[in-house]
Amino acid sequence: MGNSVENRSIIVTGSGRGIGRSIAEGLAGAGARVVIADIDPATAEATAAAIRGAGGNAIGIGADVTDRASVKALIAATVAEYGRLDAMFNNAGIAQVKQFNDITEDDWHRVMDINAMGVLIGIQEASKQFIAQGGGGKIVNTASIAGKQGYEPLAHYSASKFAVVALTQAAARAFGKHGICVNAICPGVVATDMWKLIDKGFKDEGLTSHDNEAFEGFSADILLGRPSRPDDLAGVSIFLASEGSDYMTGQSLVVDGGMVLI
Ligand SMILES: NC(=O)c1ccc[n+]([C@@H]2O[C@H](COP(=O)([O-])OP(=O)(O)OC[C@H]3O[C@@H](n4cnc5c(N)ncnc54)[C@H](O)[C@@H]3O)[C@@H](O)[C@H]2O)c1
Repeated sequence: MGNSVENRSIIVTGSGRGIGRSIAEGLAGAGARVVIADIDPATAEATAAAIRGAGGNAIGIGADVTDRASVKALIAATVAEYGRLDAMFNNAGIAQVKQFNDITEDDWHRVMDINAMGVLIGIQEASKQFIAQGGGGKIVNTASIAGKQGYEPLAHYSASKFAVVALTQAAARAFGKHGICVNAICPGVVATDMWKLIDKGFKDEGLTSHDNEAFEGFSADILLGRPSRPDDLAGVSIFLASEGSDYMTGQSLVVDGGMVLI
């Protein structure tokens, strides 16, 4: 038994850029057939084209994880292209920096809809496809270290990531009897456009005074001595999509270079 994902048909949501893109590139580099799904169809297609250019197998599809019809269509298009679905990475997410007492109901609903409900819908629709195929299959959700600790001023974001950890556990209990493994990864401080936005948010809220201050502050005590690059998440993603992790479910793995030790 190894960690091969050769020929596996795998969807990664939010993979037009950032962590999702690196996960998809890692999977494709290991021989998987990947579907780059993003609300921005142009980045989805550009990422898929880059993977094909590097000799990999990929298609790009515009999809909104908060829209069940869109997720159903994404899975149907994947099955039409690759014949089946072997793994679903529910990775799309957004962040917003706001001081605790300033978070509005609209802020709450926007973050929870994409980060938590989007993962719920992704698990539901992927598991239906897996069961229709006869069982088995891998679901990997992107949570966060903010799914293990609540960070102020990212309270609603943290709540959404605790929800991802909870959905991962509940779905593992629901679908174990079908041989479906459901796990999550919890990245730390990853240098992506999202962190540029978080860093700007800290400055806009008056919590920091210069660019990169929040990013550097959060990264200062990382045991391995540097913030994460998106490709730091590729290896664990390949493992969780492969048969090497077949006896593992309901787990949320922290991959943060040593920030949150639990
Ligand atoms: N960057 C970090 O430090 C960090 C840390 C922990 C967890 N995460 C999580 O990792 C995931 C990816 O983050 P990132 O840093 O790559 O962010 P990013 O903003 O760089 O990329 C997110 C991608 O998701 C897409 N997206 C947004 N809403 C969508 C929707 N409704 N449907 C489909 N796609 C949508 C965006 O278009 C974008 O391409 C998120 O779930 C995030 O919460 C990030």
